[in-house]
Formats: sequence, structure tokens, C-alpha cells
Amino acid sequence: MKNFYITSPIYYVNDVPHIGHAYTSISCDVMARFKRLEGFDVHFLTGTDEHGQKVEKSALSRSKTPQEFCDEISAKFRELAQTLNLSNDDFIRTTQERHKKCAQEFWRRLEQNGWIYKSVYEGWYAVRDEAFYGEDELVNGKAPTGAEVEWHKEESYFFKLSAFQDKLLALYEAVPDFIQPESKRNEVVSFVRGGKDYVKGALRDLSISRTSFSWGVKVPDVENHVMYVWLDALTNYLSALGFPDENDPLMQKFWCNTVDSPVHVVGKDILRFHAVYWPAFLMAAQIPLPNKVYAHGWWTNEGQKISKSVGNVIDPHAELEWLKTLGCDAEQAVDYFRYFLLREVPFGNDGDYNRKNFTTRINAELANNIGNLGQRILSMIHKNNDGKIVDFAHFDDGKELLDKAYKLKDEFAHEMDKFAFDLALEKVVNFARACNHFVDQKAPWNLKKENRLEEMNLVLSTVAEALRCLAIALQPFVPNLAKRLLDILNVNEKQRALKFIAADFALSTNHKINEPKGVFPRLEAK
Ligand code: MSP
Repeated sequence: MKNFYITSPIYYVNDVPHIGHAYTSISCDVMARFKRLEGFDVHFLTGTDEHGQKVEKSALSRSKTPQEFCDEISAKFRELAQTLNLSNDDFIRTTQERHKKCAQEFWRRLEQNGWIYKSVYEGWYAVRDEAFYGEDELVNGKAPTGAEVEWHKEESYFFKLSAFQDKLLALYEAVPDFIQPESKRNEVVSFVRGGKDYVKGALRDLSISRTSFSWGVKVPDVENHVMYVWLDALTNYLSALGFPDENDPLMQKFWCNTVDSPVHVVGKDILRFHAVYWPAFLMAAQIPLPNKVYAHGWWTNEGQKISKSVGNVIDPHAELEWLKTLGCDAEQAVDYFRYFLLREVPFGNDGDYNRKNFTTRINAELANNIGNLGQRILSMIHKNNDGKIVDFAHFDDGKELLDKAYKLKDEFAHEMDKFAFDLALEKVVNFARACNHFVDQKAPWNLKKENRLEEMNLVLSTVAEALRCLAIALQPFVPNLAKRLLDILNVNEKQRALKFIAADFALSTNHKINEPKGVFPRLEAK
């Protein structure tokens, strides 16, 4: 039962995708690919969040119908998923029938179980955040996120969130890593225990329907009410699995019988919705809870908050074009972009995007370290031994390096399991450094000059084996480039999972590698 379900947030279609969306999606993709390499059956979901006032307003301002507008922008997110080489198994849209059916049935469950009542909402609402705020939460008349707020008074259905305070606290205690990373967990726990929404010993009940606009999933059996967009949106994680049919094989496999999942990856700004409201909704509907919510940090652009009004939004396409001007082909550009985003900043922390750091890091770690290592060793094997690997099993001088290579599997997996993408990559980079050190010490080019060819071949084959292990580990991050390296090494496609990082699967005597070509170009203005 090695099933693993991972979800990205579904993206608002009020505007085109930017680096923040790319980041969340890539992180999910890397985890999905890693789990597949570990032998899990993986379901990776992404998609678009298409209802609500924000989307409706954006459509109207462009003189489009909401549906036309959603179709157009949703397609751009789908396109980005392809460009970024995401391996998602599904792409959900909240305007799809399967989703509306799910959201409405979910509502019915909440209602049947007695968790919904009708009243009047009176308070602040920020359309940009699609969130309600209490008077005490406002900062200088705005939402704590800086969004403009409007005063709303409208008839609304409410969810009895207040009844779930103790249950949520019990959940956070019973499953200490339900919210990751730890710092974010503490924020949520203190919010639920007595944070800003804490009124007279309870979380405030949540308004879950709106009447002042109509672009949403209709509340079942009621005129004029549409579901609050967050309740609608959160249920996407179930609609993609076939809910309300709980016997749907996907539902069974990826919601009810999983290991270490479902995992929801989200940005820190939407943690409250996923770590407080969503588990409360699920408890109320009597549906099992996800295993983990992982909140990542935010990117700034050269130190500045990214915002449309400042005009410093980073478009992933523009970054890929920039990389092409520095000597990358399309696949190399995407992989460098993926690598940089996950390597530069510990997952969970905020990070600053700047092209200078990008170039420095890629050149140091991929081009100079791993790329040069591969190029110089593999071309020597190709030129001097007709591409053939020699029997290095008893080469004592190479043992220490290969021990490190085989240990990489567990060390790498250990960091990946904690979503420590940067540290997992650091292990690989450090291992490549150790390989380079070994090569510099053994100086196979001198062995060649001195005609000590047997020794030269032992050194080269040992490093080729080290490269095999390293390339296997790199696959989730740089799938195209790792594939190129494994193809040059002529590693069988069926032997590229993590478990093959082991001596038992070492390159065999007389195994022939293919003609090497540069895989990791140096970024240089042409
Ligand atoms: N539609 C909701 C999510 C519903 S999930 C049931 C939403 N969409 S969003 O398009 O506004 O944001 C999607 C993701 O992008 C969030 O995880 C958010 O944190 C992330 N990012 C937006 N800007 C970002 C940065 N500047 N940096 C990193 N991630 C950021 O919220």
C-alpha cells in the first residue's frame, strides 16, 4: 500500500501565473517524482480556483464572461505546468461538473451533521484574500496582508467552527507534524488557542455562503446563495478523487489508504485555510484528515515584495527566455530554474530571487562541479577505453568514494522525507565535490601520460559509477538533465529508481557508455 497523494494549491485565475505559483508547483512535482522513485504509486494534483468575487471582478473588468475568462487563464496555468515539466496526474478546475457535485455534497454532509446555521454576516471582507477579517485584525484600516477591505452585511450560512477548537488542538498534539515546518505549526497552534479570531474562548464561526454576487457553486436547495470560495476550493482535493463516491478507486487509494499522505503543499499565506478550516470541515463531514500540510515561504524580487502595483512580478517564462540567452536549450533552462528555486532557500523560509545569485549558484554547483566532473571523466573513458567500463570491484583506492556514493541514497531520502530540498541537494553537491577531489588526487590525465592505463581506467570507471548514483538522485529536481546523464552512462531505464543506488547494480565490466555531450552548460552572456 505504498500510495502517496500530493496536492498543490489550486491557483486563482484572476491573473496570469508568476514565480510563486511556479515555486509551489515545482516543489510538489519534485516530491511526487521522488516518491515515484522510491516505489510509491503517486497521485499529484494541481489545478485552478475559478470562483469568487475576485475572479468575477477580473472578468468583468476585461469585459468577458466569468467562464470565458476562466477558460482563458486556466489554460495558461495548464500550459505552465507543461513548460515546467510537472508530472501532475490530474488538473482540476473548480468550474468542472465533477467538482461542483463534490462541493455540494460536501455541504450537504456538513448540514446533515448539524454544523451549518443561517444568520447575518456583518464585518470586513478582503476580496484580494477572499477572506473575512475581524475589526481587531485590521492594521491601519487594511487587512493584515495589506489588502483593501470592504464592509459587508449580508444574509449568510455559517459553519460552527467555534465547536472545533479543542478538536483541532487535539489533532495538532496527536499528530505533531501535521503542520510543517515547526515554526508555522506554532503559529497555527497559538492562533487556534487564542489568536486574533479568538473570541470568548472559541474560534469564531465562519461565514460560508455569499449572496451579493453569483459566481460560485450554488448552495444546494437554496436560492441566491453561493458557497464561500474557500469552502468550494478546499473540496477540490476530494473532487479529483471522485468524491462523493467514497468507493471510487482513487478515493480509496489516495485518501483512505495512503502512507505519509495526503500532503497539501501551500504558501504560508494560505496555511490558516488548510490547517484550521479544512481539517475542521473534514471532521464535521466525517471524512478522514490529510496527513500533512506543508507551508513554504515567499519569494521577494531583489529584496522587494512582489506585487503587481510595484510592477516587479517575476514571470517564469521570462526567466526561461533569459536562461536561453545564456546558453541553455529549453530543457536545460527549465531544469536550472527548478534547481535554483529549490536549492537556494530552505523550504519553509522566505527567499530572494535575483539573477546574479542564480548564475553564481548554477555555475558553481551544476556547471563547474557536476557538469565538469561528468564531462572530463566520461570523455576520457570514451576516448581512451572505447567507452568501456573496467572491473573496478577490487579497486581499493575507490572503495571510500563508492561507499559514500551508496550512502547517498539514504542520506538523500532522509532529507527529502523532511521536505528539506536544499539539504538533499547539498548532499548530492557535496558528493560531487568529493568525486572531483578524488579525480584531482588521482589525476588520471597524468596516469595516461605515464602510460599507467590500467590504473587510469580504474579511476575513471569508479567515478563513472559514482556519477550513476549521483544522476539517479538528481532526477526529481532536474529530470531532463539527469536523464541525459543516465543516457550517456547507458543506464537501463528500468534501473533508475532510488534502490538502484547500490553496489549490486554497479556498472558492469565492459558496460559501454555512449558518446558524452555537455549536459550542464555554464551560464554566460553570449
Ligand atoms: N486559490 C487559492 C488557493 C486555494 S487552495 C484550495 C490561492 N491561490 S493563489 O493563486 O493566490 O496562490 C497560490 C499559491 O501561490 C499560494 O500557495 C501562494 O502562497 C503562492 N504564492 C503567491 N505569491 C508568492 C510568492 N511571492 N512567493 C512564493 N509563493 C507565493 O491562494
